[in-house]
Amino acid sequence: MSASIKRIAISTGGGDAPGLNAVIRSVVLAAEQRGWACFGIREGFNGILLPERYPHNGVVRLTIDQVRGIGHLGGTILGTTNHGNPLKFATTMPDGSVQEVDRSADIHHYLKQMDIDALICVGGDGTLTIAHALHQQGLRVVGVPKTIDNDLDKTFTTFGFDTAVSFATECVDRLHSTAESHQRIMVVEVMGRYAGWIALHTGIAANAHAIVIPEIPYDAEKIAAMIRNRDINGRHYSIVLAAEGATPLGGQHALQASASSGYVERLGGIGDQLAHDLQRLTGKEARSVVLGHLLRGGSPTAFDRLSAMRFGAAAVRALDEGHSGIMVALAFPNVNYVALEEVAGRMKAVPMDSDTLQTGRDIGICLGDN
Ligand code: F6P
Repeated sequence: MSASIKRIAISTGGGDAPGLNAVIRSVVLAAEQRGWACFGIREGFNGILLPERYPHNGVVRLTIDQVRGIGHLGGTILGTTNHGNPLKFATTMPDGSVQEVDRSADIHHYLKQMDIDALICVGGDGTLTIAHALHQQGLRVVGVPKTIDNDLDKTFTTFGFDTAVSFATECVDRLHSTAESHQRIMVVEVMGRYAGWIALHTGIAANAHAIVIPEIPYDAEKIAAMIRNRDINGRHYSIVLAAEGATPLGGQHALQASASSGYVERLGGIGDQLAHDLQRLTGKEARSVVLGHLLRGGSPTAFDRLSAMRFGAAAVRALDEGHSGIMVALAFPNVNYVALEEVAGRMKAVPMDSDTLQTGRDIGICLGDN
């Protein structure tokens, strides 16, 4: 039974991921079925907090017409941002300094003024932590888990991950022949932040010879020994998958940029570093390839599209059933609800007893520690 909802809003936050448009479409269609009006907030919460940026309105009415034909498209029609946290909103003060200011009251005020009864927040850890705070402050909120990194707890998977792994696998498939032709080491760096899901799944699916992930600090000498061994056995090339958050034993994350007001640290560079070390240790030519944002682009796979559609419909259903402060999640094969407080601020790393990890070891892939 509807918890007296007539108008809802949806926001997409954090890095984009294939499937966001499918969620938006599903939410709008499921809301319309119930006679609810749906509104979309532009670029996370910026549509509310920085209205001057949006001359045609930072919050837009979403009807069936607006979401027609978008389900298979990458990106998000609402836009997104990964540095617009309303709880710590980077604000330039009169003296020119930049300080983090809690602007959550402005969100509540705006939604009240617009008679919006509930909010659906689609995003990763950062966005769901915001969703949890807004819920604790009294807003009716449901979260939808999104990230190519698959590092959110309490859900079997997030949409975007399958698309990222599928595309990365296709890329690595293509690298085998050029690596073999030149008898080179190719180090392929993939996103994933502090979790190794993308690297691990891609590495196994694409027959990599070594995979390094943040969960297992690597010893470059162990990887070099595996490469020398392959050479002795007549296999003169090697493919190494490197998660951007991987670290050498006793070493640090490779960074493109440190954290600053409103911005989290940007990882990147481990692929180059490892290629350089492996070239030095083996005497073989090594190259690195960074797949980076390519993994966030393109159409969602059917699996991600379906997950996104299911999550969007389930989020509306949850609100209709009177829930708040929850995230819809995939508890394979079903979608269920979990409390946002069990998700906010928690990262899902690859568990050491993961059978996927064990598969890698069983089929002889070097994980940097063996
Ligand atoms: O969380 C998604 C993600 O793509 C990470 O894998 C990556 O570290 C980060 O976002 C990159 O963000 P940006 O869009 O700021 O480059």
